[in-house]
Amino acid sequence: MDRRKFVKTAGLSAIAISTTGFKLIEENGVITTNCATSKDMLGPFFRKNAPIRHDLTYDDNPSEIELKVIGQIFEADCDKSLSNIELDIWHCDHRKKYDMESEEYKCRGKIFTNENGEYWFKTFVPPPYQGRPKHIHYLIQESENYQELVTQIYFKGDKKIKKNNWVKYPWDENRILNIYQNAEGIAEVKLDLFLKRK
Ligand SMILES: [Fe+2]
Repeated sequence: MDRRKFVKTAGLSAIAISTTGFKLIEENGVITTNCATSKDMLGPFFRKNAPIRHDLTYDDNPSEIELKVIGQIFEADCDKSLSNIELDIWHCDHRKKYDMESEEYKCRGKIFTNENGEYWFKTFVPPPYQGRPKHIHYLIQESENYQELVTQIYFKGDKKIKKNNWVKYPWDENRILNIYQNAEGIAEVKLDLFLKRK
């Protein structure tokens, strides 16, 4: 069931605003949210001015799983897709290093949503580092109408997720993504994002 329908049929039995600003909806003891993307930490490895590109792969990478990441960006009303939204993505390379200096901007990119609010990029599943689960960072900067969104995606089955303080609530689990094989035979994950109006 999509979340919009859930919100309608749940009858809004109980609503509270969490400390992170989400509406929490309680129905039969189950707490969920309306359309919102929970935040995660920016971390120390963000770099400005990453190149605009959809392909973050590189030649000397022995990692096995090439991954396509897709999704759509909406307003928090769950419905209005947002075109031309700038999204920064970054993760560590196969040696667990973040490229902080080189002109290559390895494993970093900037993409924009298309006219339907869709985004995609190609990369690989990065390794875990410093006890953290495998993850990819996302940043959408504050714009005229929307608040900044800083978040991360994780991958289902990663046992390190349990230890991660940033994935501890039910709504954070939306960002733990299932890897499936798409029609082209490529491993793929999907995450829709929801931006809050100012
Ligand atoms: Fe990281």
